[in-house]
Amino acid sequence: MISSYYHKHSVSYRNNEITIALRLAMELILDSAITEEVEDISKWGVLDGVTTNPSLIRKSGANFEDTIRKIAEICPGPISAEVTSHSTNEMIEEAIDLKSRLPKNVIIKIPCTPDGLAATKTLSERGIPVNVTLIFSVSQALLSAKAGAAYVSPFVGRLDDIGQDGLGLIEDISQVWGVQGIKNCKILAASIRSRRHVEVSAKLGAHAATIPYSIFTELIQHELTDSGLDKFKSDWEAVKSEGRA
Ligand code: G3P
Repeated sequence: MISSYYHKHSVSYRNNEITIALRLAMELILDSAITEEVEDISKWGVLDGVTTNPSLIRKSGANFEDTIRKIAEICPGPISAEVTSHSTNEMIEEAIDLKSRLPKNVIIKIPCTPDGLAATKTLSERGIPVNVTLIFSVSQALLSAKAGAAYVSPFVGRLDDIGQDGLGLIEDISQVWGVQGIKNCKILAASIRSRRHVEVSAKLGAHAATIPYSIFTELIQHELTDSGLDKFKSDWEAVKSEGRA
C-alpha cells in the first residue's frame, strides 16, 4: 500500500524528506462550517482543508460567504463550497461566480447527478476543481472521475445507516482506482461517524477523509496517553522534590 501511494504521488518531493512525509499522509479535512471548530483543529498543525454543505451552513447559524472566507483564511485548503442550484447551466454559472469571488483555496462541491456530471466536466475543463458529493456507489465514483472531478466523496456513514457497508464502498472504489490507474481524482471518505471509519478509510487507500469536529477530537485521545502523562508528571514532581532537577 505504501509503495503504491508513494508512486501515485511522485511529484517534487525528492530533495526534501519532510515534504515526502507530508505527501504520504492522507489529507485530513474538517467537516464543519463552524469557524471556531476550524480554528481549534487548525492549531494542531495537521488540518489540510474543510468541507461544507448547505446543512452545515444552516447548523452554523452564520452567513455562507462570510463563513467560507473566514475558513479559507484559517487553513490551506481545499475548502469545499457547495452549489445549491440543480441544472447544469445554473450549477456552472453558480460555480464560476463563487470561484471568482471566493479565495483561491476554495473548490466547488457538486452533487452526483446527470446535471452535476455535465457541470463537473465543463468546470474541470475550465480548471475549476470539483468535489463530487453524495456518492453511494462505485459507478457514481467512476462517472465522476470520468467527468474530471478532483475529489469524489463517498458517504460512509449514510450507507451504514441503511444497513449497507460504507467502508466496503471505500475499499471497492480504491480497488477500481488501482486497476484503472486513476490518478487525478482523490477518494475523499465522507459522512464519517467514528475513529474506525477514519482509520480503515486510510488503510483502504482513501486519499482524504472529512471528519466532524467531535470525531477529530477523538482521534488524538487514548486513555493510556492520559495515564502515562499523569505518571510522568507525578514522577517528575518527585524528582524535583528530591532536589534532583
Ligand atoms: O460532507 C458531508 C458529509 O460528510 C455528510 O455527513 O454526517 O451528514 O452524513 P453526514
